[in-house]
Amino acid sequence: MFRRAVCPGSFDPIHNGHLDTIERASRLYDVVHVAVLVNPSKKGMFSVDERCAMIEEITAEYGNVKVESHQGLLVDYCRDREIPAIVKGLRAVSDFDYELQMAQMNHGLTGVETLFVPTNPTYSFLSSSLIKEVATLGGDVSHLVPDLVLRRLTERIAERRAQPTKP
Ligand code: PNS
Repeated sequence: MFRRAVCPGSFDPIHNGHLDTIERASRLYDVVHVAVLVNPSKKGMFSVDERCAMIEEITAEYGNVKVESHQGLLVDYCRDREIPAIVKGLRAVSDFDYELQMAQMNHGLTGVETLFVPTNPTYSFLSSSLIKEVATLGGDVSHLVPDLVLRRLTERIAERRAQPTKP
């Protein structure tokens, strides 16, 4: 019987803070699922397939990470795959209220447990939105994301700049 956990998120795109949590989970569990949750009302910088492909390539070295996208409730993803635990990184106290709410809701729905990993303080201020904003405005994010993500971010920003603006 494999011990399984899931690290869920939007991952638009994955950054070093996410990766720290996934790597630590991969040392605690036999199999770690990374679930890229689809939010149809949000248009991301990267498509869900692009996010999954980046995560797959970056986490391949851990040897026990499985990447999938999912549309719908996280508890359904867990139930369908017999995953008893959700692992989340907690960056700061400000994350706690919302994370606690989600953990309690998810536990109430199906009994799935949530385990919180304190984020490495080096990455406690990181979010995908900030990284996209800083990179789009020309700031250096090379120390905050894996090399592959940096390359894809740079390409995507250049593509967007090259697109004619609509009147
Ligand atoms: O990276 P994010 O956007 O902070 O991740 C939030 C995410 C995707 C993990 C959360 O919104 C989620 O679990 N969404 C799936 C839909 C769901 O199960 N909603 C009920 C949560 S109690």
